[in-house]
Amino acid sequence: MKLVFVLVSSLCLLSKADEISNRRFPDDFLIGVASASYQIEGAWNEDGKGENIWDRFTHEDPSRIVDKSNGDIACDSYHLYKEDVALIKAVGLDFYRFSISWSRILPTGYADSVNIAGVNYYKNLIKELKDNGIEPMPALYHWDLPQPLQEIGGWLNETIVDIFADYAKLCYQLFGDDIKTWFTINEPRQVCLGGYEGGGGPPGIRSPGVGVYNCAYNLIKAHAKAFHIYDDEFRPKQNGRISMIIDETWYEPGSDSDADKEAAERDILFIFGLYADPIFKGNWPQVVIDRIAMRSKGEGLEKSRLPEFTPEEQTYIAGTADFLALNHYTTHMVNASTVEPEFGGPSFGKDINVIEWDLDNWETAGAGWFKIVPWGLRKLLVWLYNYYQTEIFVTENGLSDNNGTMTDDHRIKFLQTYLTALLQAIYEDGVNVTGYTYWSIIDDWEWTGGYTSKMGFYAVDFNSTERTRTPRKSADYFTNVMKTRCLVD
Ligand code: NOJ
Repeated sequence: MKLVFVLVSSLCLLSKADEISNRRFPDDFLIGVASASYQIEGAWNEDGKGENIWDRFTHEDPSRIVDKSNGDIACDSYHLYKEDVALIKAVGLDFYRFSISWSRILPTGYADSVNIAGVNYYKNLIKELKDNGIEPMPALYHWDLPQPLQEIGGWLNETIVDIFADYAKLCYQLFGDDIKTWFTINEPRQVCLGGYEGGGGPPGIRSPGVGVYNCAYNLIKAHAKAFHIYDDEFRPKQNGRISMIIDETWYEPGSDSDADKEAAERDILFIFGLYADPIFKGNWPQVVIDRIAMRSKGEGLEKSRLPEFTPEEQTYIAGTADFLALNHYTTHMVNASTVEPEFGGPSFGKDINVIEWDLDNWETAGAGWFKIVPWGLRKLLVWLYNYYQTEIFVTENGLSDNNGTMTDDHRIKFLQTYLTALLQAIYEDGVNVTGYTYWSIIDDWEWTGGYTSKMGFYAVDFNSTERTRTPRKSADYFTNVMKTRCLVD
């Protein structure tokens, strides 16, 4: 009798149960939403906030952004944070992952320049969340480096390791008593590839095949130091967990050939493993070490372009994440490139040497920057779990469209199919996935996509000074998901 009850209570009553998973989310599975300081706060120069690299990048040359906009006002969440919290509560979400603007609390970037008004903003936000039963999950760095730190070289200057660690320590001191989950850095791939390989994002440095690795090297060490400070000095009292958020696409081999299978795996290891392997296993992936060494030699260099972690560093870095935090949006097919790249100038792309493509019959999300491929999430979760053998928390996933329609049935379908894939990974494949984060609760300023990409459960009217928030159909849908812990059809 008891067994029958347990079985029934873990199922949802759905009429489309063959298309949508009818398994209930596990009781302790956490569901929330995410945002980032520069994308929502606005108030770019208010109350003592310092300039950061996105302020500089957008002001210096507006044509770098599709609609020539910037985050000066964004969603005005600096002033409207209570409204945001009310919306998160209305949907019934468990947590809110947001980021702390480094230059809002330390205008110069250095820990001796504390801006009390900035500190109070985050204290108030955290309090508001907790008063409303929503767990705050802050990230220390979501791409908005204080400009003065860029003046000394940003992530290419090794002193950033200590400077970031001091900032992290200050945040644990200021906010840590109320925090159970910390994230150090969000999507290092975008920081290093965007900022220092191709230069499409700030600081806009083009240093192909070199900048990305030097950036990764310092960034990983900065993360590790921030982890150890938490682990040694704060965890005993504050009792929280900490990780780095890494984004990954699923790379599906274009055929059954060993060459294509290897190419797909190589893609994952260069893109995700570059950050995750040191943290979970102690060093860069072997294929990354070997290929860059081989290519550097061919380029006539004496040393590999990939910096080496010393044995002491490897030991220090290994194990500096309590779980794997994954941002995932899309999938690409991968073929092994048949042409070995000419040595000539180096580049990250030549180091990987694969061909990526998409299938024509995959649906495109409205803004066109990604394809909707739910099974890619399932395969990725299985691959990552087998390879890293650790708990996985999905820290971002979402649908972007560029018309912002309020009757967003396509977003509802997206949620149903991606979350079905996630539930299959849990129940059918045995992957230990403990959380899901939708990006985002409200439309926001989407980096070089400006205001053209709409991702929110709530639309924001960026033409009104009030920045009015209005629920889309998906907000209602997800409210029911949270109530029932089922995907609801
Ligand atoms: C990844 C980033 O972390 C976030 O800042 C961005 O807005 C979303 N993906 C959607 O593009």
